[in-house]
Amino acid sequence: MEKKIFIKTFGCQMNEYDSNRIYDSVKKIGFIKADKHDDASCYILNTCHIRDKAKEKVYHEVGRIKKLYKTKKKPIMVVAGCVAQAENQEMLKREPYIDVVIGPQSYHKINQILKSFTEKEKKEETDFDTIQKFEYFDKIKNTNNKISTFLTIQEGCDKFCHFCVVPFTRGPEYSRPFRKIIKEAEELIKNGAKEITLIGQNVNAYSYEENSKFYKISDLLNELEKFSELERIRYTTSHPRDMSDDLIDCYSTNKKLMPFIHLPIQSGSNKILKLMNRKHSVEEYLTIFDKLKKINSNIEFSSDFIISYPGETDEDFNDTVELIKKIKFINSYSFIFSPRPGTKAANLKLIDNEISKERLTKIQKILFSYQLEMNKSFKNKPIDILVENKMKGQNKLFGRNKYLNSVIFEGDEKNIGKVIKVKIESCNQNTLFGEIMNNNSRAA
Ligand code: SAM
Ligand code: SF4
Ligand code: F3S
Repeated sequence: MEKKIFIKTFGCQMNEYDSNRIYDSVKKIGFIKADKHDDASCYILNTCHIRDKAKEKVYHEVGRIKKLYKTKKKPIMVVAGCVAQAENQEMLKREPYIDVVIGPQSYHKINQILKSFTEKEKKEETDFDTIQKFEYFDKIKNTNNKISTFLTIQEGCDKFCHFCVVPFTRGPEYSRPFRKIIKEAEELIKNGAKEITLIGQNVNAYSYEENSKFYKISDLLNELEKFSELERIRYTTSHPRDMSDDLIDCYSTNKKLMPFIHLPIQSGSNKILKLMNRKHSVEEYLTIFDKLKKINSNIEFSSDFIISYPGETDEDFNDTVELIKKIKFINSYSFIFSPRPGTKAANLKLIDNEISKERLTKIQKILFSYQLEMNKSFKNKPIDILVENKMKGQNKLFGRNKYLNSVIFEGDEKNIGKVIKVKIESCNQNTLFGEIMNNNSRAA
């Protein structure tokens, strides 16, 4: 009988990539993707542990699934991802509905676990077997056929920012072999990818040695540029400390590298950056900004901000506001500091909640105003859009410009996968709306 599997994914792009690779793996043992979430014989929650009550959210989700399957056969309930790694055995003890807990570096074991599954035997796999995991997945074809797709080149983190769980949930930094990445890119391009985003928790820390040659992210970007069918290249998330000159130089030489960089700074105060153990200063960040703007003044930035990190005074907060005004980030993520169990900052004295909320509101108002200002600047202009798909239930197409803005417009499906000119007519904070310009599309 046909076995169906459903994966619900939370968190970052790394989890999105992993979920797709898990689908690729379980296909080998006869599982097909379930279209509906209440129609699976195996249900996987791929979880994120980065903020807030991540653990509680997972138990809540499991409760919801329990209800959903009340009158049906219970699916094999798997919790994967970063909460699984952090909580491991604890989850099996607390919620008997959960059958399997599997951390991000153990996904190569998923087929074996599902094949040998019996209701009586719970399974927990949370070893950091990163090398074995990638060796296993290197042998399994990546079947993702999206126009814009992610490709993991590096995992884990050795930086240990005091607020962050990632070094504990993803393990030490590991870079995949250069040739394996290029081979996977080739597969994705054969499947129809026109845009590849290289991903990693510290993507620009990528470093791989083979036969005394050292490969860096700049080598990957330059190798990808050679694929004639590939239109656009991006990478995320990068760390300011690893923005080396060879990577910066790519912005003057690599014609497919998009002029938009997500470069998290977290705070505009050197005092706070030091308390966070960020390993970079505001001045170093500004030097990177200046170097890139000098190469191409159209390069734009986005960032992550943590508001009200323990010890943040009004003055520190104002330094962050000033930095935002200087850089004019066009798109950013900002959250109030959330203490994470097991991290150095877990037990520090928190800043008053009302003050934190006020600071967050203030900063988001400024960030959103730059976002809107940028979006308005496209009005009445023809811009290049990579068309990704047709919108569900609508006769409209969805694509993105070089700054990753979402663009919606009417058009024929034959444009999917092409870079076309769209004239922007209106916008809101998150989306641009436009009209295809005649006779100016080129096949990708
Ligand atoms: N490696 C990236 C870097 O160093 O910039 C960031 C990766 S992390 C998955 C994504 C973002 O989550 C961080 O940039 C940070 O802003 C946010 N974050 C991480 N831990 C947090 C915490 N404890 N509270 C609030 N935000 C947090
Ligand atoms: Fe987390 Fe810092 Fe590593 Fe980024 S660099 S993943 S914020 S510990
Ligand atoms: Fe979340 Fe893990 Fe990504 S904690 S942000 S899913 S690396």
